[in-house]
Amino acid sequence: MEAFACDALPGRVVFGAGAARTALADEVARLGVSRLLLIAAGGGETVARDLAAPLADRIAGTFTGVRPHVPVEVADAARKQAAAIGADAVLSVGGGSATGTAKAVALTTGLPVIAVPTTYAGSEVTPVWGLSDGERKTTGVDMRVLPRLVIYDPELTVSLPGPLSAASGLNAVAHCVDGFWAPGRNPVSALAAAEAIRVLAAALPAVARDGTDLGARSDLLYGAYLAGSAFAVTGSGLHHKICHVLGGRYGLPHAQTHAIMLPYVLAFNAPGAPDAASRIGQALGSEHPAAALQALAAQLGLPRGLREIGLAEDQLAEAARLIEPVVPADNPVPAGAAALQVLLRHAWAGDPVGTELAGTELAGTELAGTELAGAGRAVEEQGAREEAVTDEALASFAGADAARYREIMQSLVRHLHAFAREVRLTESEWEQGIDFLTRAGHITDDRRQEFILLSDVLGLSMLTVAINAPASAGATESTVVGPFFVADAPEVPLGGDIAGEAKGRPCYVSGTVQGTGGEPLPGARIEVWESDEDGFYDVQYPDGRIGGRGWLRSAPDGGYRFWSVRPAPYPIPDDGPVGALLTAAGRGPMRPAHLHFKVEAPGYRTLITHIFVAGDPYLDRDAVFGVKESLITDFAEHPPGPGPDGRPLDEPWTSVRFDIVLARLASGPGSPGI
Ligand SMILES: [Fe+2]
Repeated sequence: MEAFACDALPGRVVFGAGAARTALADEVARLGVSRLLLIAAGGGETVARDLAAPLADRIAGTFTGVRPHVPVEVADAARKQAAAIGADAVLSVGGGSATGTAKAVALTTGLPVIAVPTTYAGSEVTPVWGLSDGERKTTGVDMRVLPRLVIYDPELTVSLPGPLSAASGLNAVAHCVDGFWAPGRNPVSALAAAEAIRVLAAALPAVARDGTDLGARSDLLYGAYLAGSAFAVTGSGLHHKICHVLGGRYGLPHAQTHAIMLPYVLAFNAPGAPDAASRIGQALGSEHPAAALQALAAQLGLPRGLREIGLAEDQLAEAARLIEPVVPADNPVPAGAAALQVLLRHAWAGDPVGTELAGTELAGTELAGTELAGAGRAVEEQGAREEAVTDEALASFAGADAARYREIMQSLVRHLHAFAREVRLTESEWEQGIDFLTRAGHITDDRRQEFILLSDVLGLSMLTVAINAPASAGATESTVVGPFFVADAPEVPLGGDIAGEAKGRPCYVSGTVQGTGGEPLPGARIEVWESDEDGFYDVQYPDGRIGGRGWLRSAPDGGYRFWSVRPAPYPIPDDGPVGALLTAAGRGPMRPAHLHFKVEAPGYRTLITHIFVAGDPYLDRDAVFGVKESLITDFAEHPPGPGPDGRPLDEPWTSVRFDIVLARLASGPGSPGI
C-alpha cells in the first residue's frame, strides 16, 4: 500500500425507503435543536411541509425563495430570516439548490445543516459552497457548511423525471471516474468511487426504463451518496476542469457536457493510469470502460458529440487554450493545449471511443486511449519544437544593450511567433506576406507612404495615437497623422490663404488656441493640410504643385484665421497592396472629409488631429478609424458676398470655427510628449 492522506468527513447519514417520514423527527431531536428554519425548493414545498409536520413545533420558519445557483440576494434573504426567527439549525428539503441555500446560511451563521435530498446532486455530503452574483459564481470549501445530518429517502426521488435522473446519475459517475486522478485521490475514496460506479451503472438504465422502480431508485441514491462522499475529498480532476470551461465559456448544458466528455477523458488518461482504468472497468463490468461509458450515455438517450450541443468547430482551439492552465499538475497524461485540442476534437465529433474505433471486440478503450494519448504526445512534441524556435529567437535579443530595444524586439518576436502558431501559418501564406511587404516597399517613395497606409488600415496608427495622447480633461482630442503630411509646407500670414493650387469652394477657418486652463496661447504654430475638392492632396499630383497646406502663428490673443478650401471625402490610395488588402476584406477605401491640424506651443503637448465635416456619409466607416465624436464640426455654407474679413466672394463659400485646447506638458522625468 502506498502512502496516502485522507480527510474522513464527519456527519451522520441515515438511509432507507421512508426514512424521511419515520426517522426525521427522532434524528432532529437527537441533535438537540428546536428552532429550525425549513428551506424548501419549488415543487418540494408540499413534500417538505408533510415531512416537517411531525416536528411542526420545532419549525420556527419556512424559506421558499430558493433559486438555482444560490444568488447572493437569496442567500441574504435566507440568512435574514434565520436571524429573525432565532433559528438554531437549518433543515433543507429538496435538490442541490435547497441544500446550497442552507449551506449559504451556515457559511455566515455556523448553524448546523440537516439535509433531506430529493435528487442525486450529492452536494449534501460535501463541504463545498457556491454563490452566484449575476454571471459570476463563487465557490469555496468550509467545514461549517457540511451537513451535520443527511436523511436519504429513495421514496422522495420517485417523482424525479427520468431524463433528470439519468443526467444527475451520470454526473455522479463523472465525479467517481474523475476522482481516480483528481488531486485528493486516496485508496478510501477510490473504494467508494468504484462501488458507486458499479451501483450507478446498473441502476441508471433501470430507472430510465421505469422511474417507479424503488429498488433501482434506492441504488441510484446510494450511488449518488457514495459519489458525493468520494468527490468531497478528491476534488476536481481533468474531466471537471474541461467541463467547467465548456460550460462557463460556451454555455454548454452541464449534464450533457459531462456525459459526452467523460468517455474521452477516461480514454485519454487511461494509458497513464492503468490501475484506475482497470478498476473503473471492473466496476462497469467491461474491459473497455470508456466504450462502456459511451454506451451507457447512449442508452440513456444522451448526445455523443459536443457539436450536437452547440460547440462550434472553430472554438476548439480556444477551449483547449483556456483549459490548459487549469489542468491539475499531476494529471496522469500530459495535457497541454495541443493534446487537449486533439481530445476535444474527438469529443466534438462524437468519434466512437473504444471497441467501435477499430471495429473489433478486442480493440478496447485502452487502444483508443493510447491513440488519443499518442496523438496528444506527438502534438506536444511538435509544440515543444516550435517553442524552441521562439526561445532561441528571444534569446538572440537578450544581449542588446538598450533595455527598451530589447523589450520591444522580444515582445515583437513573442507576438509574431504566437500569431504564426495560432493561425498555423503555411509556407505559401508566409510567401504572400513577404510579397505584400515587398510591393509596399517598391511603391513607397518620398511622396507615397504605403507603410503608414498599412498601419492606418490595421488600426495601428490610431492605437499608437491612443496610447501616446492619453485623454486630458478639456484638451482637444488627437487622431492619426495620415500619410500626406510633408515637412516643407509654406508659411502664410494670419488671415492668409493656404489653398495655393488646390481647387475648391473657399473655406474660412477661425478659432482660438488655448491651454486647458483657458489661457490664450499666442504664437502657437498651426499647420494645416487637406485634400482639394476632388479628394486629392497636392503630393498625389505628379506635377509637383503645392496647395491645400500651410502654417501660420496664432495672434497675441490666441486667435487664428485663414482661408482654405472646403475638404472633400477621398479614398486613401488604393492602387497598391493596401488597396488590395481592403478589397479582400470587403472594406472601402474612403475617408470622410476632414482638415488636418498640427498645433505646437512651447510647454504644451503637440496636438495632431483633424476636424471632420458634420454630415459626411463616411463618418461611420473611416478606412483608418480616425473619427472621434468631438472632432466632428459644423461647416456653414454661405451665399456669394463679402467674407468675415471683407474678402469679396462671387461664389458660395464655407466657414468653420475650431477652438483648439492644448494639454500642458507634465513636468519632470518621463513626461510624455510627441
Ligand atoms: Fe487626410
